Amino acid sequence: MKLLHIDSSVLRPHSVSRKVSSAIVERLKRATPSLELAYRDLTTAPLAHLSGQHLAAAQGATAEAALQEDLTAGQAALEEFLAADIVVLGAPMYNFTIPSQLKAWIDRIMVAGKTFAYGANGPQGLAGNKRVIVAISRGGFYGAGTPAAALEHLETYLRGVFGFIGVSRLEFISADGIQVGPEHREKALTSALEAATNLHAA
Ligand SMILES: Cc1cc2nc3c(=O)[nH]c(=O)nc-3n(C[C@H](O)[C@H](O)[C@H](O)COP(=O)(O)O)c2cc1C
Repeated sequence: MKLLHIDSSVLRPHSVSRKVSSAIVERLKRATPSLELAYRDLTTAPLAHLSGQHLAAAQGATAEAALQEDLTAGQAALEEFLAADIVVLGAPMYNFTIPSQLKAWIDRIMVAGKTFAYGANGPQGLAGNKRVIVAISRGGFYGAGTPAAALEHLETYLRGVFGFIGVSRLEFISADGIQVGPEHREKALTSALEAATNLHAA
């Protein structure tokens, strides 16, 4: 069994999503010591944003050396994702959605013929065999009925992306209200870490 752990917060040691994603990995590793771990930090080793040249190369155009390097990195990210049985993703909210580094990664794993396909009945997910657990941290509150609910494009977006590629075992652990104040931050972090400890092992 392979577990892919990904972080995307730029706040490194101060990051809540990183603390929670680590706790999730620790919990799963303790339950299944034979788990093979792979780790990807999207802030220290970012993938480039897609360009016209990327798309041309995908259609068979010859890539220059610099682009070739990035294409190889993107291919490695895709293969690593495809090989994983479990994906643990640290996802902070920046400007109401995911960090751009995480979007650049998603752009490399949303590949027709690899993670989804268009068939007679429309799009079909090809990555249904994975368990994906997302550690979310948000400065404010976005629950149903809150004034900012319509601005929630982090969890809703990730649900859409992973749903599109067929992931049905999609779980979220959220730490909300992180910027409301230190007490609230502590409470939200403690509760998210507790949820990580209580996760189903398999
Ligand atoms: C650049 C930036 C943009 C942010 N934008 C939002 C936002 O739109 N809504 C929100 O509720 N919190 C926002 N926050 C607060 C973060 O979501 C919050 O601090 C969260 O804990 C970040 O996750 P992390 O601690 O793992 O980095 C933002 C923080 C940063 C650094």
